[in-house]
Amino acid sequence: MQYRQLGSSGLAVSRIGCGTWALGGRGWGAHNEREARAALEACLESGINFFDTAPVYGFGRSEQVLGEALKPVRSRVIIATKCGLVWNDSGQVHHDLSRACLRRGLEASLQRLKTDYIDLYQIHWPDRRTPLEDSIDELLGFQRSGAVRHIGVCNFSAQLLQHACGLASVVSVQQLYNLLQQDEARDVLPLCRERSLGFIAYSPLAQGVLTGEMDAAVRPGIRDVRRRNPLYRNPERFAQAVRFAAGLPQPAAHAALRFLFEQPGVTCALIGMTRREHVAANIAALDAMSAPEPGRFSSLEDIS
Ligand SMILES: NC(=O)c1ccc[n+]([C@@H]2O[C@H](COP(=O)([O-])OP(=O)(O)OC[C@H]3O[C@@H](n4cnc5c(N)ncnc54)[C@H](OP(=O)(O)O)[C@@H]3O)[C@@H](O)[C@H]2O)c1
Repeated sequence: MQYRQLGSSGLAVSRIGCGTWALGGRGWGAHNEREARAALEACLESGINFFDTAPVYGFGRSEQVLGEALKPVRSRVIIATKCGLVWNDSGQVHHDLSRACLRRGLEASLQRLKTDYIDLYQIHWPDRRTPLEDSIDELLGFQRSGAVRHIGVCNFSAQLLQHACGLASVVSVQQLYNLLQQDEARDVLPLCRERSLGFIAYSPLAQGVLTGEMDAAVRPGIRDVRRRNPLYRNPERFAQAVRFAAGLPQPAAHAALRFLFEQPGVTCALIGMTRREHVAANIAALDAMSAPEPGRFSSLEDIS
């Protein structure tokens, strides 16, 4: 496994991080928790030390399962979770970065994760109703108390990131970034390079499209989280994306990950994996990086 420094945090994270959204057991179709736990074991065995979750993933379930799995190895792993997305009894999710909500969220995350500190605590999404100054000030308090080691953000524009960096020592940004979806990182990645921030690419396989295993005729179910992904929303765009993946050097997941790992400034790719064989395949993709380059591609537009 290869490791990279995560910004100025002093944390050396594996280049492949384990994303655990699907571990929450909701929104990703059929889910086998036993298999998913085995995939976590496989991650640990292969040297993956960076695990990302969020309270909202399965409404607490992802943090809970991850906490149980990592408890015996707590001091050897890096746990990243998030704040600012809350849900009500009907399962509706909204943004809230108010001080009170952050305090409640941190306490609940620590309990579910069965730990007394979080290595990387990330603002999940901006909240237009709360001044960022207040939210960051609260996070700085968590950091002083020792409950949070480092502060990160997700889904921030370059402008908002600049603002956040003026308020606290933000160590990393987590952003949507893959071969098919590069817009969200266009300004943020260069800024991360400039400011030596960690850049964590999420949905590196475009939530499955870039595995080359998708059937263009199969649409995500009504509760599937992928319905919110613009790539899946429009059937024509989805079919085009599936064709793009089919045209990549196979296995497509290798090609997709190779693209990410080659981008200067990308610290790690956060991959959702709930099967052991997917962990092995993704490690193989990283290992194959020294192999001859199969060809260059930069976006969907290149082939359409
Ligand atoms: N900050 C944010 O707002 C945000 C948003 C989205 C995601 N994230 C984080 O990023 C993580 C990863 O993103 P994601 O889960 O959305 O999408 P992703 O990693 O692009 O795709 C996950 C899908 O790819 C499949 N897969 C993984 N490796 C494979 C391989 N080698 N061959 C075939 N299929 C493979 C997984 O299947 P199996 O599950 O069956 O293994 C899963 O269905 C999330 O879990 C979460 O931690 C953060």
